[in-house]
Amino acid sequence: MCGIVGFASFSTPAVGPLVNGLRRLEYRGYDSAGVALQGSDGIRVYKQTGKVAELDKLLKEALKTEADRAKYTIGIAHTRWATHGLPTRANAHPHVADDGNLALVHNGIIENYAALRTGLEKRGCRFLSQTDTEVVAQLVATFDKGDFLSAVSQALKQVEGTYGIATISAKHPGEMIVARKGSPLCIGVGEHETVVASDVSAIVAYTRQVIYLKDGDIARVTPEGVTVYSLDNAPVSREVQEVDWDLGAIEKGGYEHFMIKEIDEQPDALRNTIRGRLDASAGTAVLAGLNLPPRELAAIRRLVIIGCGTSLHAGMVGKYLFENLADLPTSPEQAAEFRYSNPIVGPDDWVIALSQSGETADTLAAVRESIRKGALVSGLCNVVGSTIAREAGRGVYLHAGPEISVASTKAFTAQVTALLMMALKMGRTRRLSHEEGARLVSEIERIPELVASVIQQNDAIAKIAEKYAQANDMFFIGRGILYPTALEGALKIKEIAYVHAEGYQAAELKHGPIALLSDKTPVVALLADIPGKEKTVGNVQECRARQAPVIGIVTEGDAEAAAHVNDAIVIPRVSTELSPIVTVVALQLFAYHVARLRGCEIDQPRNLAKSVTVE
Ligand code: G6P
Repeated sequence: MCGIVGFASFSTPAVGPLVNGLRRLEYRGYDSAGVALQGSDGIRVYKQTGKVAELDKLLKEALKTEADRAKYTIGIAHTRWATHGLPTRANAHPHVADDGNLALVHNGIIENYAALRTGLEKRGCRFLSQTDTEVVAQLVATFDKGDFLSAVSQALKQVEGTYGIATISAKHPGEMIVARKGSPLCIGVGEHETVVASDVSAIVAYTRQVIYLKDGDIARVTPEGVTVYSLDNAPVSREVQEVDWDLGAIEKGGYEHFMIKEIDEQPDALRNTIRGRLDASAGTAVLAGLNLPPRELAAIRRLVIIGCGTSLHAGMVGKYLFENLADLPTSPEQAAEFRYSNPIVGPDDWVIALSQSGETADTLAAVRESIRKGALVSGLCNVVGSTIAREAGRGVYLHAGPEISVASTKAFTAQVTALLMMALKMGRTRRLSHEEGARLVSEIERIPELVASVIQQNDAIAKIAEKYAQANDMFFIGRGILYPTALEGALKIKEIAYVHAEGYQAAELKHGPIALLSDKTPVVALLADIPGKEKTVGNVQECRARQAPVIGIVTEGDAEAAAHVNDAIVIPRVSTELSPIVTVVALQLFAYHVARLRGCEIDQPRNLAKSVTVE
């Protein structure tokens, strides 16, 4: 989704760092990009549809010499993911106002923009775009009577909705104002520059010292540093935090795509998720961040797990884990549906919010609604310091390292692993025996090596993908704990290979979708050797009887299941609780190879965004 970068230095030309920052944010998904620079000749704005590379070309033509670039040491930049208006050059950010004196970039949605725009038009403002953002630029310009910070805060007080903004003005040289409400924004405080970004990955090339703005914060950014205020212009203090990973973690390191790098990283990522969190002698998990003593855990009557996309699928696996290990009734809920359903949650309920980014707008709103209703809320996030992690107040970090590929991989396996540890801990406060707990502890310890052994099947999976890469439709079937994994397998192939795919409960296939089966519709059957597998084998036979070719994800040595499928991808033998993890890794690799063979842009799939910060 949209990305913001800002750069302020005394002597370094801003254009290079701004474009590099945008490149770091490309993974989030976007359809146009732009830059505004401030110099002694005022504000210069450059915008382009398509990729950052196109914008870079335009900038190189416009600012040919070192001397041209050196004139501008402060600037803002943006990648836009269209919400209001088509992805055209006119709608791309930055938007300008005040006869070209002011430029502004924005993430989020201004809900009352139509009313504000009508009011401004009556006062003679002319609009050049269809965006909600241009309204904010015009508003700031009308309030600007000499104090930039106060002009921005007055404008923002008129605005309803969400925003992360950065703005510069020819009338205020050397100054940039940034603010946030509902859209992430952080500020890197470097030795020779101050860098603003919607995502810390655009900052770490300069500094790891970062201030995370909170909702309602507004800040004055200069080459010397930053001062943070409330919207009423009262100074507030915000701690400078150190980012605990470096540039290497967000670079491809020799891989062709981030997605395959992140699939490969899973054994290490999962080691980090698990590290220090298992107590073998007590047969339980130690999750200090949950901050829930056994008495409080034991009092919980119901669990609701909320999330979107891949996180929702991990939450659906959570239902099986918590219900089986902890006897706790669990409902996984899509966050947007949950937040608008006037949900029935209260003090006896535990709500776990799953979000890799910790910024997904609907999940965040669901967290707020649950807190409002008195439920116990925990976050399960990957990004440290993210909004959901902070607002939930307690939870578990995945520690899976930065995930750049839009198609989520390592976050899913880390989420399921973390949920398993949470369910184990919860179970041990209830009926789960010490013996069972100890069995699970040793199973969890094996996860990294088990995942590594699936990754070793990469070449075999690539071969199978070749046979099916040209299919236009696919079905993924699984039952019980593997049903959400079927959904996740179908989601991966939709996202990156643009193949129409549906995930189904294996038994449900015959209630309609079987009508679509033919020799042109491969079915991927999740056949890990766990209770219920024989029934899925039966469903496979129904598919084969309709000529559909079947790719089975089967357990090593399970000749019986392998005999019923056209092609078998082999996974190690594991207990039921681990079966989604080893199965999904095979599906990730399958989707990756199908996408590669179809020539798709794997890391930047069309229309998708990594972090969906609008509802
Ligand atoms: C977007 C991404 C998905 C992700 C979902 C939830 O749709 O493209 O990969 O699963 O958001 O994101 P979250 O950060 O909340 O896990």
